[in-house]
Amino acid sequence: MIGASLFTILAAWFAVHQGHAPLRFVSGKISAIGSDQLDLRLDPEQVPVELVELVNSFNTMIGRMEGAFNQLSNFSADIAHELRTPLTNIALHTEVGLSKDRDINEYREILYSNLEEYERLTNMINDMLTLAKTEYGLQKPILTDLNLNTETLELFDYFEAWAEERGVSLTREGICKTLRADRTMIKRALSNLLSNAIQHTRPGQSVTVRLRMAADGTRISVENPGTDIPADHLSKTFDRFYRADPSRQGDGAGLGLAIVKSIVDIHHGNISASSENGITVFSILLPSQ
Ligand SMILES: Nc1ncnc2c1ncn2[C@@H]1O[C@H](COP(=O)(O)OP(=O)(O)OP(=O)(O)O)[C@@H](O)[C@H]1O
Ligand SMILES: [Mg+2]
Repeated sequence: MIGASLFTILAAWFAVHQGHAPLRFVSGKISAIGSDQLDLRLDPEQVPVELVELVNSFNTMIGRMEGAFNQLSNFSADIAHELRTPLTNIALHTEVGLSKDRDINEYREILYSNLEEYERLTNMINDMLTLAKTEYGLQKPILTDLNLNTETLELFDYFEAWAEERGVSLTREGICKTLRADRTMIKRALSNLLSNAIQHTRPGQSVTVRLRMAADGTRISVENPGTDIPADHLSKTFDRFYRADPSRQGDGAGLGLAIVKSIVDIHHGNISASSENGITVFSILLPSQ
């Protein structure tokens, strides 16, 4: 009996041990994945059918982590790159200024060009802070009744001088009902879209803001005639530091649309872009709730 019991126990242990082999295999593979190997995936064909779903879910999770990790690493690299240019310019101006005695006007000019770079840095840092606060939910939207019809006209007033200087006119079409949203944030989003639209419109043409009540909420679109954004670049325009034309680095940090998207997201809305036949439209849907 003792022999039979021992045999049964051993057989049971062996069966359990063998049964767990695929789990140990998966566990060994998972523990070998470090932050530098997030591209590794488990092969669902190497595990029994009961574990296939677990392996697939794990692969999906690690894929998401890889994406987030890459985005974060790229973000640090992008910040470093973006901050380097203005800082190098400031150092260069100062070095040139100090290289010999100059008259007061030359010093003044150097200070002015440094001031421009300081302003660029301040704007970029403020934009990054805004983005971080809205993206990570540190800044909650303060919902108030918002009348977009008048807010749009107020923004037109604000942009009027610049638009006029560029020979661009601003028009509003349609009206919408009062909605609950964070006034400062929505104005910021609209103003970023407007500034892009004005910047990319040729003189003599017009930027149109369309307001419309849709079944699922309020639709706001900013439309401008101009050079098309290539289809494969369209979704990237919402990425931080993305500029369709990298040669125009001096113009902006490429954070404007990323901020717009984070503001729309925090309002549980949706933003889309289209650009064809010389018309670019950025369209926001703010849900009624
Ligand atoms: N209306 C538009 N027409 C054509 N291209 C556009 C338009 N709006 C945005 N883009 C492209 O998308 C890129 C990203 O826009 P975004 O507003 O994020 O950055 P930016 O305007 O370059 O800089 P910032 O807004 O931070 O000053 C722009 O550089 C531009 O190439
Ligand atoms: Mg912009």
